[in-house]
Amino acid sequence: MSQPNNRVFSGVQPTGNLHLGNYLGAIRKFVALQESHECIYCVVDLHAITQPFSVWGGPAELANNTREVTAAFIASGIDPARHIVFNQSQVVEHAELAWIFNCVARMGWLNRMTQFKEKAGKDRENASVGLFAYPTLMAADILVYRATHVPVGDDQKQHLELTRDIAAKFNNDFAESIARLQLDTDYFPLTDPVIEGPATRVMSLRDGTKKMSKSDASDLSRINLTDSADDIAKKIRKAKTDPEPLPATLEELAGRPEAENLVGLYAALAEIDKASVIEQFAGEPFSVFKPALADLAVEKLAPINAEMRRLLDNPVEIDAILADGAARARVIARETMQEVRRIVGFLGD
Ligand code: TRP
Repeated sequence: MSQPNNRVFSGVQPTGNLHLGNYLGAIRKFVALQESHECIYCVVDLHAITQPFSVWGGPAELANNTREVTAAFIASGIDPARHIVFNQSQVVEHAELAWIFNCVARMGWLNRMTQFKEKAGKDRENASVGLFAYPTLMAADILVYRATHVPVGDDQKQHLELTRDIAAKFNNDFAESIARLQLDTDYFPLTDPVIEGPATRVMSLRDGTKKMSKSDASDLSRINLTDSADDIAKKIRKAKTDPEPLPATLEELAGRPEAENLVGLYAALAEIDKASVIEQFAGEPFSVFKPALADLAVEKLAPINAEMRRLLDNPVEIDAILADGAARARVIARETMQEVRRIVGFLGD
């Protein structure tokens, strides 16, 4: 198989409550990459079950959440006909390659993963083996398609470095076998992260120092992609602020996390820089700025929300998109796995 040179892969976990942070930080980037790259976007349900039932909600929730992420992809403008959208568990090659990578990656490498430490918390003995091996599955997701570019947030950079380490070690450990089979010496590419631009860190509407999160107990802290226009307006109206009006310069926003977050949100939604927002609203109180932000958020999110609702009312349509995407993903993944099996020395075809 020839090496692709502009293939994008990324994944989103179906663990509920997709919010504005997911949209501005990830999904909107996925949409933009469609113009320049061949894109594969995956709802990573195998990753979702690495956490306790209480986090991913159990089987019925998982199915709903998988459809919800798919609907968000499509409603945001990802084209499942020109690119590939599917859920991970439908392409068994991910799990198969992950097993091989479990035998390539070293305990020491995985022991250094900060996300495992965060998610496992204090009770590490009780974390699933899957949670520990999460990064090898993520490497398999990417490398089974030999993807060259992966848009990810800051929190996933370490996993991407691990993916490169696994690719390099595999290429090196099996170099002779790869050469004998006359495959590319760099069989697995060293995948590049696609670094996101500024203004993508969306913070909680109740605390400007915390990231907007699906697990925050207060629903007022986030704008969900399924929120109605009224909900969006209400949440922005109730967003925490300080008593000062907006300043005349960006520098003066420092030390005002809530004000900075709302200005950042306006900039991200309007696709302008923060300085332009400040210029426009310098000296205005939040009683003026918040309604403007609410209008903008509703204008940008209402069409996405409407299309998501339409799709979620038609699960058969979503499932058909996923089945079609999985069939096309499988063609690529099977080809890779056939080669990998020969590289490793497994008999069979
Ligand atoms: N770990 C990613 C996250 O939580 C999701 C993910 C799984 C992913 N596989 C991936 C992202 C492959 C990029 C590429 O956000």
